[in-house]
Amino acid sequence: MSTPTFEVYLTPEELVEALRVDARAGLTASPKWLSPKWFYDARGSELFEQITQLPEYYPTRTERALLAECAPAIAELTSPEMLIELGSGSSEKTRLLLDAMKGSLHTYVPQDVSVTALESAACQIDAEFPGLGVVGVISDFTGSLHHLPSGGKRAVAFLGGTLGNLIPVERGEFLSGVSAVLDSGESLILGVGLVTDPAVLVPAYDDSAGVTAQFNLNVLSVLNKQLGADFPIEAFRHVALWDSENQWIEMRLEASRDLSVRIEDLDLEITFAKGEQLRTEISAKFTVDSISAELEAAGFAVQKVWTDDDQRFALLCADRV
Ligand code: SAH
Ligand code: TRP
Repeated sequence: MSTPTFEVYLTPEELVEALRVDARAGLTASPKWLSPKWFYDARGSELFEQITQLPEYYPTRTERALLAECAPAIAELTSPEMLIELGSGSSEKTRLLLDAMKGSLHTYVPQDVSVTALESAACQIDAEFPGLGVVGVISDFTGSLHHLPSGGKRAVAFLGGTLGNLIPVERGEFLSGVSAVLDSGESLILGVGLVTDPAVLVPAYDDSAGVTAQFNLNVLSVLNKQLGADFPIEAFRHVALWDSENQWIEMRLEASRDLSVRIEDLDLEITFAKGEQLRTEISAKFTVDSISAELEAAGFAVQKVWTDDDQRFALLCADRV
């Protein structure tokens, strides 16, 4: 029996050090903010999987249905020997691509910052697809991507609308970074959320069962555990709002009373006034034109775009020029 191999470009020590730097910068800023990659400890990755199954959370379902329909066309357009998936999480929807790419593919490279999610996904795929090489990469996709493996014609998949979780300047850097590591003729397969009715969008990030609230609040547990902080989690409330100017959903945590927090490992004391909000995540939505323009600016030529009938989600296939 084969086993997947793993390449580690981000050790647990480096991850905690990056968290220290981020937490100090974001929690001493005004307004306060935190980077979304800190959501995904083992519990966070598990909660995200629950989010994907919520009735209000349409993106996963919609993207899966799109993939089921167009994976054969994507396989034909890209014919990769190696599929690299950034922020692969559970790799659940990716099976549709792996099935469709059987004819050309020899290696699947899932990449994520969450070690637990990556290990279990890589092992499952390895067992389900005999003959396919599986190489898990633990790294930060907002850092350098030069360590991504090469060998045969490659396609990079970036699904789930995760591109929208990067702030615009990071997003530009990310797309140029992917473009820089690809050779001419290699491809990007991108899934993004589209601008749609706020009455549909907002509940997707503020579900009635409160799972997204738990997911958002979990980032405070990460700080408590990893940095010896003492956030009183029950004193914070999940907030999701649609910012129509920036065309993104913004997730925040609001303090329900005046409080102070000690972050032992940073030797830092911070205060929250009642009603003060900490920004934890954005989820930007696009139009087919806006995302196509960003891809072209980064050195890609869009080959084909698929959307669902309600125009809520888009899959794009682009070639590195
Ligand atoms: N692609 C999956 C998971 C989306 S959730 C899907 O479509 O369902 C976002 C994933 O990106 C999580 O698994 C998270 O751990 C990962 N992630 C977030 N920020 C990251 C970063 N900076 N570097 C690498 N992975 C990251
Ligand atoms: N990539 C997902 C999205 O933007 C991540 C996500 C879903 C998320 N629900 C969330 C992030 C709630 C933070 C809070 O849809």
